[in-house]
Amino acid sequence: MTTFPADFVWGTATASYQIEGAVAEDGRRPSTWDTFARTPGKVWNGDTGDVACDHYHRFAEDVAIMADLGVDAYRFSVAWPRVVPEGTGAVNQAGLDFYRRVAETCLEHGVQPYVTLYHWDLPQPLEDAGGWLSRSTAEAFAEYARITHEALGDVIGSWITLNEPWCSALLGYAAGVHAPGQQLGTRSLEAAHHLLLGHGLAVQAMRADGGEAPLGITLNLHAVRAASDSEADLEAARRYDGLGNRLFLDPLLRGAYPEDVLADTGTTEWFAERSDDLATIAEPIDFIGINYYSAHTVAAPEDGRFSDPSLPTPTPGSERVVTVDTGAEKTQMGWEIHPDGLVDVLAQVHALAPGLPLYVTENGSAWPDEVGPDGRVEDEDRRRYLEAHLEACREAVARGLPLKGYFCWSLLDNFEWAFGYDRRFGIVRVDYETQQRTVKRSGEFYRDFVARERG
Ligand code: NOJ
Repeated sequence: MTTFPADFVWGTATASYQIEGAVAEDGRRPSTWDTFARTPGKVWNGDTGDVACDHYHRFAEDVAIMADLGVDAYRFSVAWPRVVPEGTGAVNQAGLDFYRRVAETCLEHGVQPYVTLYHWDLPQPLEDAGGWLSRSTAEAFAEYARITHEALGDVIGSWITLNEPWCSALLGYAAGVHAPGQQLGTRSLEAAHHLLLGHGLAVQAMRADGGEAPLGITLNLHAVRAASDSEADLEAARRYDGLGNRLFLDPLLRGAYPEDVLADTGTTEWFAERSDDLATIAEPIDFIGINYYSAHTVAAPEDGRFSDPSLPTPTPGSERVVTVDTGAEKTQMGWEIHPDGLVDVLAQVHALAPGLPLYVTENGSAWPDEVGPDGRVEDEDRRRYLEAHLEACREAVARGLPLKGYFCWSLLDNFEWAFGYDRRFGIVRVDYETQQRTVKRSGEFYRDFVARERG
């Protein structure tokens, strides 16, 4: 059996708005998610991130849990509205101090801090000025990245610019199910461009600031399969892969947008006018992070085949694609479980950028956990999901793919965006009444797996 390299990084991941709470403390100002969560009907049960896991006050306990689990690394995000509360202008030292305390506590426990600079909590004033539809947001992001890198460069092991720009652009500005909740169709691709530009400008700014820490980006890649070999289904798969994957991978790794996607969406001219940005977007990076949860089998809409309601329909071109239920087991999110799709997406990225190190920066599953009378959570479904995907990582390593690390989503149950607290992804349970943390069976499994692999 292939063993993981000795320096393989084993981590857990979280994100600021999903766990921190303390939304009005120490100078933090509102983000688009504060606004969105307060808009009636947007988040299940009216949940907000106001308190979340109270990680802002309990981070030391959470880092100690990671140390007990024996992980090497912690991927967390910095909340832009804590550091530059209005999006541009005045820097809030208290915000930077908080993240320094988190990073230093990690280092004291032998846990490497990996920082995501943007995990969706955009300062509200920037949204009011156009959000990611505006080029100035990309410039503001680069400045915030520079400030954070300069302040925390000595304690951060790796930097990730954006988390899942597909979600920010297409769920935020097309489907409208994420903040800022707009449904602008094809204009969402302008947001995608400005996100990518912001990434490139941020990489340039952080490089100019110096330091050795690797710089990268995290994408949610979709493993796409055509339901059949028919021309129509292959065409549906091309479209899904185009908007889901290549719209981001190609400019980042090849310095060009995919012609077919621009043609499908009628945006060729808009993008041609911005071709000067491509060199910035393709600024060399040190790794790609991949968030992987599921594979999607897609078909042309003919025959009235089952269409997955979770596919955001207002996204450009999605009326030409339906997701097919293959009968595979699903998580509570309704996402089919296909561990082999993880190997496929790693191979897809490797083919585009053969020398580039790859990380799984998120992978995990939601289940309706039950707490036993003894307080234990025997989350066998989550444990099996985790094991199957860790074995997929082993397979990727065996195939020679340059996979360097794996981060489990998530360390803690947390605020699952539009689903509020109704979906639990943690390997550690959070009792939201008492804020008590309890390591679940899946967490113990991860701890033992990592210990065994380290030998
Ligand atoms: C990816 C996102 O980055 C994360 O914030 C979210 O909770 C998980 N997917 C699960 O949906």
